[in-house]
Amino acid sequence: MKIAGFVFSIVALLGAAHAATPPLLPMPAQIEVASGAFPVADGTTIVVPAHDAATRQTAQYLADLLTRTRGLHLKVKVRAAPSRGAIMLSREADAPVAHAEGYAIDVTPDGLHLRARDDAGLFYGAITLWQLMTPDAKRGPVQVPALHIRDQPRFAWRGLMLDSARHFQSVAEIERLLDQMAQHKLNVFHWHLTDDQGWRIQIKRYPELTRVGAWRTPPDAGHDGEPLRYGGFYTQEQIRQIVAYAAARHITVVPEIDMPGHAQAAVAAYPQLGVTGKRPPVSVDWGVNPYLYNVDDGSFEFIDHVLDEVMALFPSKYIHVGGDEAIKDQWQASPAVQAKMHALGLKDEDALQGWFIDRIGQYLAAHGRQLVGWDEILDGGVPADATVMSWRGSKGAIKAAQQGHDVVLSPAPDLYFDQLQSDNADETAGRIPAQSLAHIYAFEPVPTDLDAAQASHVLGAQANVWTEHMPTMQHVEHAVFPRLDALSEVDWSPAASRDWNGFLDRLPAQFARYRAQHIGYADSAFAPDIKIDRSAALTSGTTQVTLSNQAGYGELHYTLDGRAPDRNAPVYKAPFAVKLPLTVRAAAFATDGVELAASRERVFDRASLLSLAGNEMPNCPGSDFRLRVQPMPDATSLAPVYSINVFNSCQLYPSTPMQGVASIHVEAVRIERNYALAHEQKLVVSRPHSTPFGELVVHQDQCDGSVLASLPLPDPAHSARRFTLDAALPAQQGEHALCLIYTAPIDGPLYALDRVTLMPGTTKL
Ligand code: ACM
Repeated sequence: MKIAGFVFSIVALLGAAHAATPPLLPMPAQIEVASGAFPVADGTTIVVPAHDAATRQTAQYLADLLTRTRGLHLKVKVRAAPSRGAIMLSREADAPVAHAEGYAIDVTPDGLHLRARDDAGLFYGAITLWQLMTPDAKRGPVQVPALHIRDQPRFAWRGLMLDSARHFQSVAEIERLLDQMAQHKLNVFHWHLTDDQGWRIQIKRYPELTRVGAWRTPPDAGHDGEPLRYGGFYTQEQIRQIVAYAAARHITVVPEIDMPGHAQAAVAAYPQLGVTGKRPPVSVDWGVNPYLYNVDDGSFEFIDHVLDEVMALFPSKYIHVGGDEAIKDQWQASPAVQAKMHALGLKDEDALQGWFIDRIGQYLAAHGRQLVGWDEILDGGVPADATVMSWRGSKGAIKAAQQGHDVVLSPAPDLYFDQLQSDNADETAGRIPAQSLAHIYAFEPVPTDLDAAQASHVLGAQANVWTEHMPTMQHVEHAVFPRLDALSEVDWSPAASRDWNGFLDRLPAQFARYRAQHIGYADSAFAPDIKIDRSAALTSGTTQVTLSNQAGYGELHYTLDGRAPDRNAPVYKAPFAVKLPLTVRAAAFATDGVELAASRERVFDRASLLSLAGNEMPNCPGSDFRLRVQPMPDATSLAPVYSINVFNSCQLYPSTPMQGVASIHVEAVRIERNYALAHEQKLVVSRPHSTPFGELVVHQDQCDGSVLASLPLPDPAHSARRFTLDAALPAQQGEHALCLIYTAPIDGPLYALDRVTLMPGTTKL
C-alpha cells in the first residue's frame, strides 16, 4: 500500500508539473496554474462591454479563430455587467499589467477574464486564450485550466522580413503569413519591395517602375517549367488592404525601398536614374549586382516622390531604405559622380553613401518618419536618429548601440530563414550552414558587449526570409515554421524563462494548430536520421543502425520489414546490429502519441550503399559555400533540389571498399548560373577542359589524385537538362574516396550531381 501510495503521489506531481505549462507559444512572462478548469463549448459566450468596438472586434477574431481551428462556435455578446460562466474581455485603465501591450488573464471554474490597458494587449491576450483553448489536436469542447497570467513583451520590435522582390507572393499568401505572425505576437512585418530582380510597389507618378521593373525574363525562359516572364507587383489598393489587414492584427508594415544599391529594376525602368545612362535588363542574377542610383538632383527628386507615395500608403513611423551591398564600382567609374563627391568634400564613396542616406533621412524626418537601414549605413556616417538593422553578424548592432542608435538584430546566418534548417537529405531549397530550431531558440538579441544603457537601444530581433531560392509559398512556409515559434519566444518571453525542453514540450500542440490551418510547417527538427556504418556494411554485410533526430526529442519508433512505423512499432533505445539487406523506416512521436515527424525510410543493400545523392556528398576542401537549388530559378513548383557551390564545382564521394566496383554511373543536372558575385567573381575556380563543354573528372582519393575517369559533358544546346554519364573504372583494391570535379567553363551553366552510383559491372556502358 505504501509503495502504491508513493507511486501515486509522484504521478500526481508529474500531472501537476504538466498542468503548470499549458502549450503556449511564446511563453508568457508569468503564469500560475490553479486547480479546476473552466469549460468552453459551443454556445459559451464572450462578453464585451457596450460602446467598445475594438474589444468587440478582438472578441469576434477569437471566436472566428476558434471556429476555424477547433470547430467551436462561441457567441460574442455586449453586456454591461460581468457574467458568471462567460469569457469576459475588457480594456481597463487600471488593468493589472505592467507594460504597454500587456494583458492579464484570470481563469476560475466560474469564468474567464481577460483584461488589458490597450487594444494590442487585449489582442495578445485573445491569442493566448485561443492557445489555451487549442491545447491538442482535438475538435470541440475544451477545459481551460484555472490559472493567472500576467504577460507583456520583452521587446518592442518583433519582426519578420519577407522578400517579395526575388519571388512574388499573392495578397492572400501574405495575409496568411500575417495571420501567423499575429498568432505568434510578432508585430513588425518588414516588407522588402524593391530589388535588382523586381520592383513590386505601384508608384503612380512613375508607371514604368511596374510596367518594366516588375518583370524579368528568366534564364532559359519557356523551357523545363520556367515561365516566359516572371514578376508581378502590388497595386496601391492591394497595399492598403495588406496594411489594414496587418493593422487589425497589431502588426506594423515597414516598407523597404532599397537604395543606393539593389537598384537595377528601377534603373531598368528609368535609365536616367542610373550612373551609366544605359538601360540594363531587370536582373535574373542572385547576389550583388552593380547598379546604383546616381547622386544627382534627378535621383533625389525621384526618390523623394517615391517616398511621398510610400509614406501615404504606410503609416509606419519607420521607413526602411536598405543601404546594403552597394558596391561602388559604378560611382568610382563615373567622372560626374566623382566630381560631385569632391565638390561635397567627401573623402570616398562610403562617405558619399553616408551623405546620400543622410539626405533621405532628412527627407523622412521632415515628414515625421524615421529611417531604418541595414548596418552598412554605419560605414559612411549615419543620420543621428537612424535605426540600424544589424545583418552582418551582431557587430553593426554593437557599434550602433554604442553610438546611441536604436538597433534591431537580424544577423546572418543566425536569423536568416533562407538558411536550411537541417542537413536532412530531403530538405528543400536554401543555403548552408543549416540554422536549426535549437539555434534560433538560443539566439540572444542583446549582445553581451553592451552595458545597460546601450542595451536599452536594442529594439528587438527579426528573422529575414530572402526568397531567391523560394519560388513558392510552400518553400516560404517550410522555411518559416516552426522556426517562427522559436523567434517569438526570443522576442516576447523574459530571457530567464527560456527553456528549450519546455519549448519542445509545447510544440506538438502548435503543430496541431498548424495542421488545422493547413500551414506547411517543417518537421526537420524531429525527422528521424537513420545511420549505419557504411564501410562495415559494405565489407561484412552486417552493421549497426543508429537512429536520432536533430532536436534529440520524442520517441523514435521503427520497423525493419518495410511497414509504416506507428506507436506500436518498437521504440528505439540504442544502436542495434543488423544484417543486410534491410529497409529501415522510422517516425518520431511525442510522448502523448502525437506524430512529430513523418516516417523516413532508408534501404540498405549493396547497390543502394554504393549510390549516393549529391546532397549527401560534401564539398571539396577549401570552399564551404553551398546552396540547394531548383534547376529552374523561377519555376513555381516544389521541384527536386540539387547542391551546388557556385565557386567550386567539386564534391567528395566518401571512402568506399572498391573491391568489385567496375564502373561509375552519374545522374547529372544542368543548373542555371544566374549569380552576380561582384568582387567575389575572382574566387570562382576555373579549370582547363579538353572537350568543348567540359568534363566530369573523377580523381582517386584526393582532388589532385590520379584521374580514374573523365566524362565529357554534352552540348547544353542539344541535350536534356538531366543526363547520365557512365565510365568504366580501373580495378582498385582497398578503400578509396573519390573527388568529382566539373571542369565546365565558368561562363556557361553550372552542373550538379543528382546521384553517383558505383556499379559492379559495366552493363550500363
Ligand atoms: C542583406 O542580407 N543583404 C541585408
